[in-house]
Amino acid sequence: MKITPYRRHPEQSQPPYLYEPYCATVLRAPRQPLILLPHTLSEITGPVYGHSKITETDNDLTRQHAGEPLGERIIVSGRVLDDNGRPVPHTLIEIWQTNAAGRYRHSHDDHPAPLDPNFTGAGRALTDENGQYRFVTIKPGAYPWQNHQNAWRPAHIHFSLFGPAFATRLVTQMYFPGDPLFSYDPIFQSIPDERARQRLVAQFDLATTKPEWALGYQFNIVLRGREATPFEGK
Ligand SMILES: [Fe+2]
Repeated sequence: MKITPYRRHPEQSQPPYLYEPYCATVLRAPRQPLILLPHTLSEITGPVYGHSKITETDNDLTRQHAGEPLGERIIVSGRVLDDNGRPVPHTLIEIWQTNAAGRYRHSHDDHPAPLDPNFTGAGRALTDENGQYRFVTIKPGAYPWQNHQNAWRPAHIHFSLFGPAFATRLVTQMYFPGDPLFSYDPIFQSIPDERARQRLVAQFDLATTKPEWALGYQFNIVLRGREATPFEGK
């Protein structure tokens, strides 16, 4: 069988492994030249993730508990596209985020902000036949981290996309327009190309906004090519 490997990303559109202002990369960036493994049948085709376990409230993070979470209810919707602008259907998207106060429900998060008993902060969805996905959630808060003096992350939602195989898993972060913390954030700034950086910022969209209920944002994810979304560790 002829194996067609996945294409690599264009220069400058992706963050480097080592970006010194982002301190964790100093510890984890490879110190030896990378050995590119050939894509064989197992990287190209497997594993296949079952879709049966997604439940009705998985893409609505405001309905996973007895009550509603506190915060600003939002809708985040968009399409997953390949480098030719074609939709990528039936791909699994997972998200995770802080609550409205900027706190993760995670044992490593010691930010002195309240947990919300009605918010876990994790969801997932499959794209439909048009590559479309939709989440209902609350707007996450900014949070401090100890990367440098007075370091705060801009509000963001983590995204993971599972394609059909291990080699196609992609992880990135979605930001909100106009955040004053962009210019201080080494994770955002680690993407060399300014235009690529802006592709991580969702757009406010009145058509997605539901009257009397929730603000809407559009966030398209392009997997490869000149318009590719910047991903982590690519
Ligand atoms: Fe985060």
